[in-house]
Amino acid sequence: MGYEFINFEKEDSGVGILAINRPKALNALNWDTLKDLGSFVENDLPKEELRVLIITGEGDKAFVAGADIAQMSEMSASEFKEYVDYAHKIYNLIENAPYPSIAAVNGYALGGGCELALACDIRIASEKAKLGFPEVKLGIFPGWGGSQRITRIMGNAKAKELIFTGEMVSAEEALRFGLVERVVPHEVIMKEAKELAESIAKRAPLAVSAAKKAINTGSEMGLDKALELEKELIISCFDTDDRAEGMKAFLEKREPEFKGK
Ligand code: CAA
Repeated sequence: MGYEFINFEKEDSGVGILAINRPKALNALNWDTLKDLGSFVENDLPKEELRVLIITGEGDKAFVAGADIAQMSEMSASEFKEYVDYAHKIYNLIENAPYPSIAAVNGYALGGGCELALACDIRIASEKAKLGFPEVKLGIFPGWGGSQRITRIMGNAKAKELIFTGEMVSAEEALRFGLVERVVPHEVIMKEAKELAESIAKRAPLAVSAAKKAINTGSEMGLDKALELEKELIISCFDTDDRAEGMKAFLEKREPEFKGK
């Protein structure tokens, strides 16, 4: 595969595990690491066979500690714009991908790292994780989608408290205000993430994908238009082999075998 800064493996269940691999710098996304992530997601992720993507960080300490501060400190304004543009492109790609994604937040998820977790559909955190947006300590603010995605999750006021102070919060606090969906013991985070992923991977992939689109796109629309979109999407699901298989399996009292068709 030839990627230095990411590792990837796919299990037979269709669950893919992508780990950011720069543990010495707490998986901070310098240009090379961000490009490896982007290029892999764009070009080499086996999308056809993938049912669920888990994103995590290598090592025992960090998910991703953010954009690379050493590199940013030396960038020109135009280089910084390029860096921000690329991160936006890749995070949008993950957010809008047809497959669902789970962030397994196994440690620090700060700045661009917290923003990567927010681009995923679901977040599970280790009880040791610390999350936050320290950017205002550096003279910037969460600009890889964070200021927009976080407000849609926890509302403007709590998001402002988090962003304006730059303070980190524990996984338990993050759970209380909806920044993560589950907190689990550190040792079992990958086991829990895989179990959740496998429970999604067993379902009809086109239906899961349509539900993701209905939720992501619909939540940005007025209710009337969103309900129209929902109708369109459920009708498109009805016309699939998996819908026929799912209903037949129920009537025959057996597990369905979905093919993603
Ligand atoms: N960029 C570059 N290097 C980083 C880094 C980052 N974001 N985070 C950690 N590192 C490096 C450290 O420089 C250190 O390297 P050396 O061993 O070569 O000195 C190594 O990772 C280990 O880090 P620490 O020694 O600092 O570890 P610690 O346990 O004492 O502290 C920490 C952990 C609290 C996470 C601390 O590393 C830290 O505050 N990191 C910066 C977090 C941050 O500010 N992130 C936001 C970046 S800005 C951003 O992301 C902008 C955006 O909107 C996209």
